[in-house]
Amino acid sequence: MSDEIFIGTDIVSVPRIAAILKKYPNRFSRHTYTPSEVKYCESMPKPAVHFAGRFAAKEAVKKALLTSKAIDNIPLKQIEIERLPNGEPVVHIAGKLQNKLNCKVSISHTDEFATATALLSVLL
Ligand SMILES: CC(C)(COP(=O)(O)OP(=O)(O)OC[C@H]1O[C@@H](n2cnc3c(N)ncnc32)[C@H](O)[C@@H]1OP(=O)(O)O)[C@@H](O)C(=O)NCCC(=O)NCCS
Repeated sequence: MSDEIFIGTDIVSVPRIAAILKKYPNRFSRHTYTPSEVKYCESMPKPAVHFAGRFAAKEAVKKALLTSKAIDNIPLKQIEIERLPNGEPVVHIAGKLQNKLNCKVSISHTDEFATATALLSVLL
């Protein structure tokens, strides 16, 4: 068992995500986000802000995972950011290591940028 903590962070341009969503409607969102993530983001007045926040969160989690060396690579869709009723984000990482990974993420966004920081502990 390891008590080592790994960290990841990311920042995303909201207009860039809005442009990708416009250029590739459905394709980008289906490739990158789970159905419940898409449902939540599309229910919001400014969907791109929330898509960007989740993109930053996924990238932050991926950085922490790669730093830990628990995995070599992971598709962003395998990292799901659930939203609790109080707004708090919860990370679910699909795959064979899912029961050994404990990951927390924090997201913030403006109309211009979204950022996220992830903390990961791995039980091996
Ligand atoms: C949590 C809180 C500090 C977030 O502040 P904020 O400036 O709106 O947040 P930002 O714009 O920087 O970031 C938004 C992200 O914060 C995260 N967030 C929201 N609520 C959260 C909470 N309770 N705990 C942790 N993270 C939270 C979400 O990931 C959200 O992204 P999303 O909307 O795409 O899911 C603020 O909402 C708060 O003080 N809440 C407590 C009071 C409250 O809930 N009032 C409303 C009751 S209806």
